[in-house]
Amino acid sequence: MKRIGVLTSGGDAPGMNACLRALVLTAHANELEVIGFQRGFNGVIDQEYQTLSPYHVSGIIQDGGTLLKSARCPAMLTEEGLKQAAENLHDLELDALLVIGGDGSFRGCLELAPYYQGKLLGIPGTIDNDVDGSDFSIGFATALDTALDAIDKIRDTADAFERIFLVEVMGRHTGYLAVAAGIAAGAEQIICPELASELDLDKIAEHVEQARKHRGNCSYIIVIAETMYPGGASALAADLEQRGIECRASILGHIQRGGRPVGADRILATKLGAFAVEQLVQGAHLMMAGEINGKAGLYPLALTGDKKKQVDSYLLRWQQQVAQY
Ligand code: F6P
Repeated sequence: MKRIGVLTSGGDAPGMNACLRALVLTAHANELEVIGFQRGFNGVIDQEYQTLSPYHVSGIIQDGGTLLKSARCPAMLTEEGLKQAAENLHDLELDALLVIGGDGSFRGCLELAPYYQGKLLGIPGTIDNDVDGSDFSIGFATALDTALDAIDKIRDTADAFERIFLVEVMGRHTGYLAVAAGIAAGAEQIICPELASELDLDKIAEHVEQARKHRGNCSYIIVIAETMYPGGASALAADLEQRGIECRASILGHIQRGGRPVGADRILATKLGAFAVEQLVQGAHLMMAGEINGKAGLYPLALTGDKKKQVDSYLLRWQQQVAQY
């Protein structure tokens, strides 16, 4: 193995740069040349790339975003796009391609596999933490802290005005971020797909009323995962108002994707970047480099989207039983 490629794909996540750094340094130590593609798979298809040496990744461990930029790539859903990507990888004589991203990016790898003769390896990088085969994905810990910083501030104004707030967090179709943020912020309610696929507005209103019976007028925060209500948190706030529950909606949005990676993300990113290159050298193919119980390990890429990973049901159940008091 002489030359490998790398790209960051899908929603960017804090820690992707730290991962690139570890990967490039490890490749250099193993006498491998690294080519970095711009804007995810688009850079492979459009032949936009650069050589990455230790010089290029020096001083980026603390930076949010991604040096290589990121994007989704509709062309990878077509046979023509996949063939073009494989041809370009072959022309560059790349022995392997490393993809830092989430579920969708890994599906791109699997689709590419029949056309590309090199090795393919994934590294989980997404704030959604929705990838099977790794306890955490790069970016989740930072996104959680960012969400908490915002919710703590919302709590201050909610306390002052004795108000009810609906705070919408990201997570795509999963509630990992919503559950973690809701628990850590001491939210009174958490609404996420793992609890119910459809919302019962009367139940939500009843819970608010119960809490106010116990505590008197007080702040009350509902953390809701995006995609849980048609029209989002603002529409839900309007519909709750019609049931006599006056509340304000706050949509945290893309701030959750930005910022300097927290320590946990830098460490995870460093471990997975280094481990992925070492495993490639050993011959790993169509695997994801993840971490389970603190230990780096390989997991089949084909199983990463199986959605077997569970939210913390113990904490969620506890929260539901006591949050009204
Ligand atoms: O996958 C990361 C993520 O931020 C999700 O949480 C969110 O649903 C989605 O990306 C938003 O995508 P975009 O930035 O394309 O709007």
